[in-house]
Amino acid sequence: MSASLLAQNLRGSEIIKIAAEINELKRRGENIANLTIGDFDSNIYPIPAKLKQGIVEAYNENQTNYPPADGVLDLRQSVSKFLSERYGLEYAAANEIIISGGSRPLIYSIYLAIVDPGDKVVFPTPSWNNNHYCDLLTADGVMLATLPENNFMPTADELRPHIKGAALLALCSPLNPTGTMFSKEALEEICDMVIEENKSRSEGEKPLYLLYDQIYSQLTFGEHKHYNPVSLRPKLRDYTIFVDGGSKCFAATGVRVGWGFGPAAVINSMKTIVGHMGAWAPKAEQVSMARFLADNTAVDSYLADIKGNVQASLTSLYQGFQQLKSEGFSVDAIEPMGAIYLTIKVDYLGKTTPDGKVLETATDINFYLITNAGIALVPFSAFGTGEDEAWFRASVGTITNEDIKLTIPRIKAALEKLS
Ligand SMILES: Cc1ncc(COP(=O)(O)O)c(C=O)c1O
Repeated sequence: MSASLLAQNLRGSEIIKIAAEINELKRRGENIANLTIGDFDSNIYPIPAKLKQGIVEAYNENQTNYPPADGVLDLRQSVSKFLSERYGLEYAAANEIIISGGSRPLIYSIYLAIVDPGDKVVFPTPSWNNNHYCDLLTADGVMLATLPENNFMPTADELRPHIKGAALLALCSPLNPTGTMFSKEALEEICDMVIEENKSRSEGEKPLYLLYDQIYSQLTFGEHKHYNPVSLRPKLRDYTIFVDGGSKCFAATGVRVGWGFGPAAVINSMKTIVGHMGAWAPKAEQVSMARFLADNTAVDSYLADIKGNVQASLTSLYQGFQQLKSEGFSVDAIEPMGAIYLTIKVDYLGKTTPDGKVLETATDINFYLITNAGIALVPFSAFGTGEDEAWFRASVGTITNEDIKLTIPRIKAALEKLS
């Protein structure tokens, strides 16, 4: 094949493969509750009205030429104010903030700005896409398996043996795929570990950087509070690069406006990389996001709405699984804390279906649920864990709460048929 080694070895999204299976079943008339994609149905969750109106207005104002490589200044200023007011983080619009076409180019450009081929990158599993970014960079990805008893969040003790000499530690909270978050203490311990590691490095040695993806940080529920490394340990400001944006908290996945922030030197490199990729956010969307973000009343009212609805859906699913557990089914779920995801266990590995097939992997269980209960989840194996782990992600952005409630009796009936 006349393609690069990278092209030959790159793996596509596992979730998109499951989606293709579901689409085929739907085409045949099956009714599937699709809890796979980390997206929103924009008829259930439209973007904020002011943001939508502002995009139309910006096009009418002919805001259609190239934006600056690091984003339009008004948006960087709005982001700077947003960070200050909502997180107490002070980042300068002039040189510490970068805008890109959604958050993915930020992650990729952070990797490119920091990681050389063969460098060690440490990240927990399950987590989202770090394995693919390591493949793109030919980095030495160290995947650290986390535990359900820690809500699948990594601990300092688990990370410590792996960070010697690493170039990047990639963390995310609230976490995709689990919908769980760092506690203050757990994140503080990790911060202290990074500070210690950097203290131990010699002059001229690359420091350990921290990629902190907080794209779901405005979507947290109840008493669960979001923490970030720089507020907890200001010393980490020189080593932390944040990934953030409007895709999830404003249900604006197709609008493509992300923002990253961190030390000026790294942001400057990211600006060059994003510029060469041409991965800017469209200018009209930037202009509108700048105006929307600056309107605290509009932002607060939208966030209250979306959080209320997402939390209600996650709670319905969580309670449904807790009910099944209390009835003796081999299932479990972790309390939803943030994002749009619920962590679910469907522990039926080794069980036999009515037509005599043994469920040997998490993928087998998922396919059984798709075809017999009309519900599609994503096995954690799509996020880097083994196929022998019976844990799954459910994403609630493309389904109503009413439809979620209808899935529980169907799951119960399907599980009853297993022996
Ligand atoms: C943790 C996390 N970070 C970043 C992204 C990328 O978001 P965007 O759509 O803005 O590229 C996603 C999308 O699913 C995500 O889950």
